Amino acid sequence: GNDMITIENGRLKIDGHDAVELAEKFGTPLYVMSETQIKRNYEKYVDAFKIYEKETGKEFIVAYAYKANANLAVTKLLSKLGCGADVVSGGELYIAKLSGVPSNKIVFNGNCKTKEEIIMGIETNIRAFNVDSISELILINETAKEMGEVANVAFRINPNVDPKTHPKISTGLKKNKFGLDVESGIAMKAIKMALEMENVNVVGVHCHIGSQLTDISPFVEETRKVMDFVVELKKEGIEIEDVNLGGGLGVPYYKDKEIPTQYDLADAIINTMLEYQDKVEMPNLILEPGRSLVATAGVLLGKVHHIKETPVAKWIMIDAGMNDMMRPAIYEAYHEITPCVIRDGEKEKVNIAGGLCESSDVMGKDRELTPIEVGDVVAILDVGAYGISMANNYNARGRPRMVLTNEKGVYLIRERETYADLIAKDIVPPHLL
Ligand code: LLP
Repeated sequence: GNDMITIENGRLKIDGHDAVELAEKFGTPLYVMSETQIKRNYEKYVDAFKIYEKETGKEFIVAYAYKANANLAVTKLLSKLGCGADVVSGGELYIAKLSGVPSNKIVFNGNCKTKEEIIMGIETNIRAFNVDSISELILINETAKEMGEVANVAFRINPNVDPKTHPKISTGLKKNKFGLDVESGIAMKAIKMALEMENVNVVGVHCHIGSQLTDISPFVEETRKVMDFVVELKKEGIEIEDVNLGGGLGVPYYKDKEIPTQYDLADAIINTMLEYQDKVEMPNLILEPGRSLVATAGVLLGKVHHIKETPVAKWIMIDAGMNDMMRPAIYEAYHEITPCVIRDGEKEKVNIAGGLCESSDVMGKDRELTPIEVGDVVAILDVGAYGISMANNYNARGRPRMVLTNEKGVYLIRERETYADLIAKDIVPPHLL
């Protein structure tokens, strides 16, 4: 959960810093990211999976999925802790390099990599392109040839495993657009093609089945499918160095529900992998968590500007909206919401809405909260992943400021976008001037 959040004398604190004071000092809406919490989340992965290194003598690498939150302070922090990067665009690769991530800890995902992105990855000498199609494999080989280089490739397989999560964030089913199908032999065909190519180096097998998984069994199934495929490869005389099982571990958005931890995940994956010890040489193990590293570290503070009662509901209108945090609007995602000052009085059922002109701009419905007044600050929890990274300028709203907290201080890590920023890339043609 959110270890960095405490309630002291009825006031919400983040890493010991008073939330209302942060809102007053930096303005709202405001993203607060806890350095303490990110560190803790990362260290749990390292600690939970060190047994794999001990048992196999191979490497374990965490490649943070930048799409979850690619703020430079966040990526630098993780890089300094020794974390690698999973990037899905030239932009994310640029940020990973800027953050000092060593090239052998960078993997490149995505089903539509462009030639420019492939060039950039080859120049960086990344650990692997996770190849999503035969077409992409051919382009990587051609590009590497033109550059006089050899590109490292891993193959993203589609294992046809049901992750039992929200349909919009499941990826490893046959009907999804991702990966190379195993059953029909396409994945094997692609790898055999690669072995005949001069400018690619086959290093691994990759898989990612979905996000916000709250059940361990799909991970076990995924690991089996991947390792069965590695066994098949060995029968064909093909040895690989890396197995990458993607990301997907969920976080407890609902505080009353227990969900698996990094330790449960490690237990399941490692035990399954070790079942194959007599059949194949154990590979290095890579994971690409995004959400489970940063979600619980983020809080979005919004100020209440209006309260309105309709015949059917009481609405709390705050200045943090769907452009700042899209998850409730597009996935009907639940995020806990709490007033930052706990007032005396009976709890009341309210809806908390942002200020955009869309009915879906509602952050929380039917929440039982302590009394809220105009001018109060409310906190939306667990927004560190897929919050700022999916924020946009809809309704001509600048994206919010961000601060990083630790036990020592508070640091501004992203400036609020101004009105001028909103039109900075627009161009008015001469006849309209
Ligand atoms: N690796 C690959 C290939 C991925 O596609 C993803 C996420 C990850 C790793 C990281 O997954 P995580 O550990 O964060 O679950 N915007 C959605 C989530 C989309 C996830 C896309 N892929 C949301 O807000 O729930």
